[in-house]
Amino acid sequence: MGRIIFASTNEGKFNEIYLHLKSFKIDVEFVKLETVEIQSNNLEEIALDKSKEAYKKIGRPLIVEDTGLFIDSLKGFPGPYSSYALGTIGNQGIIDLLLNRTNRSALFRSIVAYYDSNNNIAFCGDAKGTISHHITQGGWGYDPIFIPEGSAATYAELGITNKIGISHRTHALNNFAKWYCENHS
Ligand code: IMP
Repeated sequence: MGRIIFASTNEGKFNEIYLHLKSFKIDVEFVKLETVEIQSNNLEEIALDKSKEAYKKIGRPLIVEDTGLFIDSLKGFPGPYSSYALGTIGNQGIIDLLLNRTNRSALFRSIVAYYDSNNNIAFCGDAKGTISHHITQGGWGYDPIFIPEGSAATYAELGITNKIGISHRTHALNNFAKWYCENHS
């Protein structure tokens, strides 16, 4: 099919994206690139801006991806601030915030933003779940504390292959791949 770039600093994300888009015959190349992120409460706005900034530097068709973890009983926190929250309070901090809360529901949202000389489009994917009571082994980011709906295990415990089968990022990538294959055959 085609070859596109995934611009990011996160190799964990690239591994998942590469494996999944391979099934659509879309070849993905990793370009390690740090972009300045705009301050916004809107994940889509952040991802679209990031794709534009990345295109200015790379000049080839590319995708970027932005994720947020939205916890119901914390009124959607950390949401667009998920990276900052993980780097500061960490997974244990999130578990501590939920101490004595009965509602542990959360939503993982992924936005994949595509940019080329003619298009700048965002594709969304969600995964509902709950926050675990303990940090589990393995995975990366919030994987050790996010239990997807219909599972008894966290993303970390499920491992990469099972995670790719159901994850928020996979849903966003499916929407992207459908559009990409229809428009680049
Ligand atoms: P960003 O999209 O890289 O800004 O991600 C925001 C935060 O969510 C970062 O701290 C990531 O480590 C974390 N994150 C992103 N995607 C995932 C995932 O699939 N599993 C667990 N944590 C994630």
